[in-house]
Amino acid sequence: MKQNQTIVTYFIIKGISDVPEIQAVIFVLVLLIYLITLVGNLTLLLLVWTDSHLHTPMYFFLANLSMLDMMTSTVTLHKILLTFLTGDNKVLYVACMVQFYMFASLSSDGLFVLTAMSYDRYVAICQPLNYHVMINLKICLLLASFCWVFGFIQVIPYIWIISKISCYSSNEIDHFFCDLVPLVSISCSDTTILVRLSSIQGLIIYAIIPLLLIFTSYIFIIRAIMKIRSNIGRRKVFYTCSSHLALILLMYATLISQYMVPSNSLGSKKLFSLFNTAIVPVVNPLIYSLKNKDVKTAFRWRLEKCKAQIAFL
Ligand SMILES: *[C@@H]1O[C@H](CO)[C@@H](O)[C@H](O)[C@H]1NC(C)=O
Repeated sequence: MKQNQTIVTYFIIKGISDVPEIQAVIFVLVLLIYLITLVGNLTLLLLVWTDSHLHTPMYFFLANLSMLDMMTSTVTLHKILLTFLTGDNKVLYVACMVQFYMFASLSSDGLFVLTAMSYDRYVAICQPLNYHVMINLKICLLLASFCWVFGFIQVIPYIWIISKISCYSSNEIDHFFCDLVPLVSISCSDTTILVRLSSIQGLIIYAIIPLLLIFTSYIFIIRAIMKIRSNIGRRKVFYTCSSHLALILLMYATLISQYMVPSNSLGSKKLFSLFNTAIVPVVNPLIYSLKNKDVKTAFRWRLEKCKAQIAFL
């Protein structure tokens, strides 16, 4: 069977829908969510950087997560917004590769930062007296930079194999950004190695290793919580972990729903993917700030200070 072979210099991003009215609705929704993501995460970043009460490892990691969230949603959502505004749905081959590379690295970085945070929670709860020795600035920097660097390195094999794909049956990507599955689905080269690599690597690096580390931390944490006699003390300790656990659940729920649950129609799959990539970065800072007294106090304090300044002017 001879297929229509195209030499691809650019791709066409088909987006969610080609009905103008639906495009307009999606544009407004995505713009709104994107702005909320930026405002929410920037607020959290500024609070963590400027308020000395929040100068603890947990909040530094949280700031890392906020930074990642803003970058991820910029990478994944900007094409929807730009296409609607300019009508240009083309993306150069190289830009498409860069977009996939950034998306895959940034989203795994988030997972690694969450894993590092479980170590922080373990030390805070099980070794409170040694906390400042075991998690000092140097170790935090080391952990955070390991998460970032490793996240960016582990995607290189994918990019290398994808760049070797020489044959595309079409240059239309039926998605709203360049992701692995839509790219593979229009390739007419043999992609078995790529698909196999992505499932093995995905299983080991995104599931087995982080989950093993997270579970180990939480087994120790739960054991420590069981030893606490008073109910109030127990609840207080558990409280400090609940936001972290909520984020981990959210992260894996989206991963599983995205890549493991088969979906019958491509359209619903895209909408689902839009929901995942757009909503998670909004929810992250919300979960931490709404549930957290320190963040709320810092926010109120900052607000008072701003008001005072405005009154002074
Ligand atoms: C990320 O974490 C490191 C180590 O805790 C910290 O020094 C750095 O400022 C954080 N990055 C951001 C963007 O807040």
